[in-house]
Amino acid sequence: MTGETLAELIQLKKTGRELSDRQISWWIEGVTNGSIPDYQTTAMLMAIYFKGMSPRETAWLTHCISTSGDVIDLSSLKGIKCDKHSSGGVADTVSIPLIAIAASCGAVMPKMSGRGLGHTGGTIDKLEAIPGFNVNLTKAQFTEIVNRWGGAIMAQTSDVAPADKKLYALRDVTATIDSIPLIASSIMGKKLASGADVIVLDVKWGSGAFMSSTSEAIDLARTMVEIGEDNGKRTIAYVTDMNEPLGDAVGNALEILEAVQVLRGGGPPKLREVILTLCDEILIQSGLAQSPQEARAHALRAIADGSALRRLADIVSAQDGDPSFIDHPELLPQAAVERTVHARWSGFVSRIDARGIGEAAMHLGAGRQTKEDAIDLSVGLVLDIKTGDTVSAGQKIASIFARNDEDARVCEQEILASINVSPTAVPPWQTVVARITRKDGVVTYEHP
Ligand code: URA
Ligand code: CA
Repeated sequence: MTGETLAELIQLKKTGRELSDRQISWWIEGVTNGSIPDYQTTAMLMAIYFKGMSPRETAWLTHCISTSGDVIDLSSLKGIKCDKHSSGGVADTVSIPLIAIAASCGAVMPKMSGRGLGHTGGTIDKLEAIPGFNVNLTKAQFTEIVNRWGGAIMAQTSDVAPADKKLYALRDVTATIDSIPLIASSIMGKKLASGADVIVLDVKWGSGAFMSSTSEAIDLARTMVEIGEDNGKRTIAYVTDMNEPLGDAVGNALEILEAVQVLRGGGPPKLREVILTLCDEILIQSGLAQSPQEARAHALRAIADGSALRRLADIVSAQDGDPSFIDHPELLPQAAVERTVHARWSGFVSRIDARGIGEAAMHLGAGRQTKEDAIDLSVGLVLDIKTGDTVSAGQKIASIFARNDEDARVCEQEILASINVSPTAVPPWQTVVARITRKDGVVTYEHP
């Protein structure tokens, strides 16, 4: 660039000035090709964390991230391609059942997913609990499976948005994850590169999410909707609760079993509500339903008549997995030790801290503290309670699946420390807090 150094750009951002498109392009090119040292990029990330970015800067940063590697061309797929993305949570077993239900209703869901990090889980890790399941598809295999079955899930390749990989790894170790422009450009940079026509976002708020208030989550959701719509993608965001774990199961094989329960018509009501709400949106955006009521009727029929569960089996088989686990859960990885947790107190459950529960599962080996950690697909925990429930001392409130007794004992303490019981009634968290859309340039906020 014309005589400017990154130190000068950091100085501009540090004093709250707006970076030009050219300056942002130069920085992200340097991040991607390795010519800018990590210590300068981390200083820039911290300056952005404190000073923020204008909508223009955020939009251009997203563009630079999305074009830092391959942009996937899905034009060989028939129909309206829908993508779904969650900003990350605990017991967030949404994508797998959602794709099976939506695909069995006729939607087209080519999904690229990531792995878990810290207290949050990742769809790719969960799928690897299924014996034989191949998450590394070629583009030809991916296209063929989506054209045949309406859905496939593969690991994001390192060729998509490589700038995000580098930035995310640096953010993870420098406490700069929870910044609206950095999260929005990271998520939307990948979504714009992965070629869908419709993007449905599930933005979490609460103790287990990056956004700790509804207003911040709504801000993040609006930012991502604007970026998507500016780039010609129909983009709809939901803000949902992540103060307590969404489902009951936390851990990879355990979450696969919970996905099957949902597809059999059961599963935790709160998890079902998020899955069905996002499914309604996908069916409407795909032109497969005219109203949320009609969409919901389709989805419930696909669950009731078994077609959604059969579709999961078909996609699993197409991706080299063995679908026998659906009827034989013992074929999934099994933990050596099972321990039951009992309530110590009687009263109303006033808090089940999602982050604490996610970290308890991570310490068992279900998640990664750092990107390089190996995980154990068999371990995790299953909760029997939700906020607002009544409990009595001695009642079973959770099961722990661990590698050994010592891990299980530590996990029990962590679970108990994450749960509060109060003598007075506590209302449950509202699951779906807001829906954010933009039409003809006007952003609309609906609160269901
Ligand atoms: N998920 C992402 O992909 N990026 C972020 O920055 C946060 C959550
Ligand atoms: Ca997730």
